[in-house]
Amino acid sequence: SSAVMSEKVGIIGSGLIGRSWAMLFAAGGFRVSLYDSQENAVAEARKLILQQLTTLQQQGLLRGTLSVEAQFELITEAHSLEDCVTNASYIQECVPENLELKIKLFTLIDQFVDDPDMVLASSSSCIPPSQFSENLTHRAQVLVAHPVNPPYFVPLVELVPAPWTLPHITDKARAYQTKIGQSAVTLRREIPGFALNRIQYAILNECWRLVADKVLSPEDVDTVMKDGLGPRYAFMGPFETIHLNAEGVTSYCDRYADTIYRVSETFGPTPTMTPGGDVCNEIEKEIVKTIPIAELAARRQWRDDRLAELSKLKRNVNHF
Ligand code: NAI
Repeated sequence: SSAVMSEKVGIIGSGLIGRSWAMLFAAGGFRVSLYDSQENAVAEARKLILQQLTTLQQQGLLRGTLSVEAQFELITEAHSLEDCVTNASYIQECVPENLELKIKLFTLIDQFVDDPDMVLASSSSCIPPSQFSENLTHRAQVLVAHPVNPPYFVPLVELVPAPWTLPHITDKARAYQTKIGQSAVTLRREIPGFALNRIQYAILNECWRLVADKVLSPEDVDTVMKDGLGPRYAFMGPFETIHLNAEGVTSYCDRYADTIYRVSETFGPTPTMTPGGDVCNEIEKEIVKTIPIAELAARRQWRDDRLAELSKLKRNVNHF
């Protein structure tokens, strides 16, 4: 047995996101204690994880420097919430997106926290951390660490502190994400939708309007993204884009700010995206021609395979 024990990470909830975190932290060499309230869920999750680790290894996509066996052995079952939390240096909560459930669970976690430096992170996609941490004894240790699906191939993690989260907790969470090879950004304050979804919704709203205003077909909107903006955005953000598209950011603003302002002033109001409305029907009718609802699962697998290939490519070409 090794003299130095690696640090313990507690993961609560062994669904899609809990399993992903377990694999990421094990790849980073952490001891992972996985807990689920559902009988047999962790045993099932560990079986799936072993299968996935084996497949990743065969495809040359396994992360970290440890073997499949070593990574798998780092992931053990916690038989109680207390067992999961005790002596952990970092907790990642991954239960369903339900405010009442998160409040109840964090109230329980709070009782088992024995270390003022323990990070208490939630995977929540859209609940601001202040909503489930306000009344906790250890509320200064709580934040959101929001991953993007599939986290194994899409490395972004949004860190969102509540107004009372201590900066050293957010910094520690960021250091852990870096250690496991994820790409963390830190919001300075809570905001609805965090960062990724706010940007995503801005794009979606304009795409929706272009269809509603009969400018583009739904298929052509998707082509603009995947064959136009997407390839560039896989490697750089909008600010690097403008920096490169002129002689720097100031030069870009000098040349294009007026035009961009004029075009932006023509943007319509926020679409309601009414289910069954004309635009919704037009988009769905066109897209099911190539991707019928019955083939969504297969198409999701296709998407994840493409993202895996892209992550491999980015590992190889990202040196500047
Ligand atoms: P899921 O439904 O796949 O898994 C949830 C797991 O939590 C289940 O295994 C369930 O048995 C367990 N659970 C329920 N109550 C529990 C409790 N009180 N204690 C312990 N375990 C409990 O859900 P998923 O998709 O993994 O989502 C988890 C969180 O991650 C949500 O907050 C979601 O918003 C967030 N998220 C999800 C993403 C996605 O694409 N699915 C992406 C990013 C974040």
